[in-house]
Amino acid sequence: MTQIAKDILYIGVDDTSLDLFESQYVVPEGMAYNSYLIMDERVAIMDTSDRRKGEEWLHKLEVALEGRKPDYMVVHHMEPDHSSHIAAVVEKYPHIQVVGSAMALKFLGQFAPGLKFNARPVKEGDILELGQHSLSFFAAPMVHWPEVMVSLDTATGVLFSADAFGKFGALSKCGFFGEEDKDWACEGRRYYFNICGKYGPQVSALLKKIPLDQVKTIAPLHGPILRKDLGYYLNLYSTWSSYGIESEGVFVAYASIHGGTEAVALKFADMLKAKGCPKVVVTDLCRTDRAEAVEDAFRYGKLVVAACSYDAGLFTPAHDFLHSLQAKGYQKRSVALIENGSWAPSAGRVMKEMFGAMKDITLVGDLVTIRSRMKEEDIPALEALADAILA
Ligand code: FEO
Repeated sequence: MTQIAKDILYIGVDDTSLDLFESQYVVPEGMAYNSYLIMDERVAIMDTSDRRKGEEWLHKLEVALEGRKPDYMVVHHMEPDHSSHIAAVVEKYPHIQVVGSAMALKFLGQFAPGLKFNARPVKEGDILELGQHSLSFFAAPMVHWPEVMVSLDTATGVLFSADAFGKFGALSKCGFFGEEDKDWACEGRRYYFNICGKYGPQVSALLKKIPLDQVKTIAPLHGPILRKDLGYYLNLYSTWSSYGIESEGVFVAYASIHGGTEAVALKFADMLKAKGCPKVVVTDLCRTDRAEAVEDAFRYGKLVVAACSYDAGLFTPAHDFLHSLQAKGYQKRSVALIENGSWAPSAGRVMKEMFGAMKDITLVGDLVTIRSRMKEEDIPALEALADAILA
């Protein structure tokens, strides 16, 4: 059993056969459902795991307890990937106190109807004394559900950060402490923007109220336990939660039916490079993981969308992408648009409407309309649009 700090054991589990996390995100490296046990004068279980891993998680708990009876079941987040075995714990240890926000305890009643448990509601500022360790609670509403709390063990500086600072990937794949992980940010970013992206202000507010100088280890509910270079992770979260630009460059996203729009997008990307753009990233929205495209849209400060017209509207993969951006709170970015249409181009109109409903989006240059295939006479308008997005 791995100890992450004095008296604090990791009892989480890897899930390497999961097809889709939250039934929507591909996780080629699997997923970790992190959970911890604090073995002090009083024993606290910190969250549980997804129902897929019940037997394994309960076995790890029993081994780690070494015959002791737990006093507290601490619930930071009631989403079922972390709360699925609370009922089993309560049934096995009926005296246990379930510690969580009032809303978390209410949710427990919804997820486990009829479960009788000893509720110990906590609110921001409350402290749970375990002996040597004491847990100080901070409300973290909408990071990523409204009932979420995080807690800081003041004895060790371990921050139990709930979904914050999580990452896709099983620990057996990405490393237990993530210290050999060359690119935590890649899957950490895809996770952040797709899980918490909409709630940047709430994430920022949480970062401001935690005494970060006391934090020595971040113990999230997913992904590696972070204990080195914490400034690196905190800086990324500061940029991400404020919708800041992480990398200079342009993200070109296209959705093409028969290749005509793809040819325009690739030509446009070449123009950007020829004009000295430091980084141009191109993605095919029909074939790329949409969560990855969302992540890249947030990463760069400038976005170009090239899409076909379809059913008098916008080709579905582009429509889905823009809808995802809307849903995740996409903002503070410059956007350029290219549409294709053979008889009644309609993609540009829909894209303008959708971006118009987003916050602080600047549509730059003039919409470029391609009729079926890019022609020589389209080049000046594309050049002008490239100049506009790079300006
Ligand atoms: Fe990992 Fe919001 O649950």
